[in-house]
Amino acid sequence: MLTDDQAGHPPRQHEGKSTVLTLGPSEIYLCDTTDVSEGEGLRIERPELPEPIAVISSEGQYFAVSDTCSHADASLAEGFVENCQVECPMHFAKFDLTTGRACSLPAIFPIKTYPIQIVDQKIHLTLSD
Ligand code: FES
Repeated sequence: MLTDDQAGHPPRQHEGKSTVLTLGPSEIYLCDTTDVSEGEGLRIERPELPEPIAVISSEGQYFAVSDTCSHADASLAEGFVENCQVECPMHFAKFDLTTGRACSLPAIFPIKTYPIQIVDQKIHLTLSD
């Protein structure tokens, strides 16, 4: 059995019944949950990020994905969001926010998805090695 550290998960502290998550050095703060309304996206571009990221809220969940559509250069943060999918605002390809899979043409390549952690309503992106 792997410990959290061996499995690549951030260290955790246990206090009573609740779990207190301690963020590691590979966690990058993106925004607060209150910055992204249900069915909306927020583009975040910063030097410490590998690419512009779209934080998107759908069905009560938050997702961090590549902001740039895999078909061309449209910003997916500007897209229409429904049922954990985002529709590109330029040519209307749809992407699954849970996997990044392109669900409809004209996009055929997926977009990158990023794991996130939410601590105290703050959304952090986890960068893998
Ligand atoms: S730019 Fe997104 S579908 Fe064409």
